[in-house]
Amino acid sequence: MKRENIRRIAVFTSGGDAPGMNAAVRAVVRTAAWNKLHVYGIERGYEGMIDGHFKRMERRDVANIIQRGGTVLRTARSMRFMTPEGRAMAADHLKAYDIDACIAIGGNGTFTGAKVFSEEYDIPFIGVPGTIDNDLYGTDYTIGFDTAVNTAIEAVDKIRDTADSHNRLFFVEVMGRHSGYIALHTAIGSGASSVLIPEAETNIEDLKTVLRKNKARGKLFSVIVVAEGHHLGGAAGVSALIKDELASMEPKVTVIGHLQRGGAPTALDRVLASRLGHHAVNRLLEGEENVAIGIVNDNIFTCPFEESITKQKQPREALIRMASILAI
Ligand code: F6P
Repeated sequence: MKRENIRRIAVFTSGGDAPGMNAAVRAVVRTAAWNKLHVYGIERGYEGMIDGHFKRMERRDVANIIQRGGTVLRTARSMRFMTPEGRAMAADHLKAYDIDACIAIGGNGTFTGAKVFSEEYDIPFIGVPGTIDNDLYGTDYTIGFDTAVNTAIEAVDKIRDTADSHNRLFFVEVMGRHSGYIALHTAIGSGASSVLIPEAETNIEDLKTVLRKNKARGKLFSVIVVAEGHHLGGAAGVSALIKDELASMEPKVTVIGHLQRGGAPTALDRVLASRLGHHAVNRLLEGEENVAIGIVNDNIFTCPFEESITKQKQPREALIRMASILAI
């Protein structure tokens, strides 16, 4: 769609919230205002689009939100948007508000919905990657990942204190539905003994041997970071396979859970979200559509929704290897 034909845009957040989403909303609203566009915020993502929960957003409406976690637009995982009837209702509301294009902030499910919808109703979308999991192809980092990793590292630091005091073995589960990014970065950043992620083979016998050897050479406590999506059933599953043989280390399981989704975004997330939100509007005005914006080697790129939702982003082998070398 040509720049001069875009006068009104809508922005929404969808799927799991991620710290920094507010900074992205702010950047979209302010960049749009600077370009004399009218912006509507849709509450609760696709759910609000279906129910017609639209509100006009001006420059001042996004004041004082850059530092806040969560999303002021609120969010939801919409089952109704997966149905043709739900999407038809959403399309009616976009038409009623005269919306020319949408900016969708979220993860894989959000972009999948955007792709299907924009093909059905010919409405341009730009996706902004917002998910703590960092599992989207086409961008080195997603909004919220850095904050989540910092939160997880802070938690592991605390668990280390008690693990050390009692000579215990802890399995700490971090989020990542299908992805080990949070686990890998948390393990490296907290100096964990080992990290178990869905993207790499886990040999339980090798893990037991390492833990026994560690103990024999005077490493009396261990913290193992496990990704939620690990195929053995997360931290509880792995612990169950080990606990009888290593009962002397009194294995414990800690699930950090949704703590990782909240809190003030880090500086990295604020800047990333501001850049992605700003360039999402710019790219829309340059005529791009149905792409996700991303950052690769510190440059802004776009990636078609089709690729972004189907291609797998894998943690770098070298990083996985380094984590194990640094844990010796
Ligand atoms: O996608 C982000 C994420 O936090 C995943 O890491 C996790 O598996 C999932 O969302 C949890 O979703 P919900 O908050 O809907 O339970």
